[in-house]
Amino acid sequence: MEPKHLLTLRPYSSDEIKSLLTFAAAIKSEPEKYTSALTGKTLAMLFQKRSTRTRVSFEVGMLQLGGRPLFLSGDDLQLGRGETIGDTARVLSRYVDGIMARVYGHDSIEELAANATVPVINGLSDWSHPCQILADYQTIQELYGEDLTGRKLVYVGDANNVYRSLVFGGIKLGVHVAIAAPAEFQPDPSFIESVRDEAQRTGSRVEVFADPQEAVTGADVIYTDVWTSMGQEEEQEHRRKVFAPYQVNAKLMAVAGPQAKFMHCLPAHRGEEVTSEVADSPASVIFDQAENRLHAQKAVLVRLLGE
Ligand code: CP
Ligand code: NVA
Repeated sequence: MEPKHLLTLRPYSSDEIKSLLTFAAAIKSEPEKYTSALTGKTLAMLFQKRSTRTRVSFEVGMLQLGGRPLFLSGDDLQLGRGETIGDTARVLSRYVDGIMARVYGHDSIEELAANATVPVINGLSDWSHPCQILADYQTIQELYGEDLTGRKLVYVGDANNVYRSLVFGGIKLGVHVAIAAPAEFQPDPSFIESVRDEAQRTGSRVEVFADPQEAVTGADVIYTDVWTSMGQEEEQEHRRKVFAPYQVNAKLMAVAGPQAKFMHCLPAHRGEEVTSEVADSPASVIFDQAENRLHAQKAVLVRLLGE
């Protein structure tokens, strides 16, 4: 039988996502019940890019479930000397029970999954960051209750991996996901088109704005991410200029209204996409999001490796 992977949230049904989030909340409230859920299982964790949260939360998560994490830096493997991703996937599958990978191109994680005979979990690719977004919707459920239908999340910034994954999760959960971004960094119209039907079915809306003030009015959540993602460093100067009017600061939060919470996947570039005043304000739940990476990923690990 083909193993089940988590490369993006897209192919998962609404019920599967809701059930994963319910399971994540159960693991969070009674972690002691799951201390031997993955006894004897090993997770290979392959990183082509740096990480703090993903690495530590997966590593600690495996240990808390009774399993063993194995950190592998892409540079240290023969992968760094030209061994193919396909052969790496086939070899790792002979040793371990699951592979979590952080890669540049999304095609790399797809190639890993196509060749692995164990589940593959995306720990961030240029296209998507599903584990982050599960933790984020777990955090939003903690704020607003399990049923998120009609809640409004406004993402202010680059239409990147985190934005796309927020949309994939939002359309499963009936959440309205709006983005405010300068024209050149808005989502491709074909992306919006590709999610339109599913959004309609779940009562979610996916909207694009240029004006951040117009976008954030009445938002339940304002979310931002770095203007320059890993791998885009040479565009940093240009991005800093173009995104300057899109900073999430106290003025923008005031336009949104007092109900609005602030979210960021982290790491944050304080003083760029968000001010410290907002990141450290009572409205900010950024460290709850970071904590929920642990719980949400434990749910994913048990579902994919344990059953
Ligand atoms: N949010 C997130 O994935 O953080 P890391 O890059 O530290 O893993
Ligand atoms: N968009 C960011 C997310 C980091 C967690 C990046 O890809 O670098």
